[in-house]
Amino acid sequence: MAGNITFTMIKPDAVRANNIGPILSMITEAGFRIKAMKFTHLNETTAGGFYAVHKERPFYGELVEFMSSGPIVAAILEKDNAVADFRELIGATNPAEAAEGTIRKKFATSIGENAVHGSDSDENAIIEGDYFFSNLEKF
Ligand code: CMP
Repeated sequence: MAGNITFTMIKPDAVRANNIGPILSMITEAGFRIKAMKFTHLNETTAGGFYAVHKERPFYGELVEFMSSGPIVAAILEKDNAVADFRELIGATNPAEAAEGTIRKKFATSIGENAVHGSDSDENAIIEGDYFFSNLEKF
């Protein structure tokens, strides 16, 4: 059965462009409930830890540098079928391939600076949410 939790970050490019509000609007209008949320700034260690699964990829260094280049918004979101529905809402990783009406089509500028993160599985949604939030911060 599909889980009802996903994890997202509004990335430094979208925060710099002042798009936190419009992106959160699209998320809540699509039926996601905010279960946890914080505005924070990753450093190379914490960004590197979050993306450790990509450590061997050629873009890892660039990814860690970008994700620690400015503040981000991290959130746990709740909705039936959360992971798949959220990936549909944000669109393809590469904004050039993202469908019309998706968050990345609207706000992302490149595959690296793609405005938002969304978990790729129920298992990773839990791991990623736990990376940022304690049980006392989830409602
Ligand atoms: P995200 O969904 O946060 O998960 C991994 C991230 O790696 C992805 O979004 C992209 O921002 C980034 N990424 C994936 N492929 C590339 C690439 N070819 N070059 C740079 N960054 C990439």
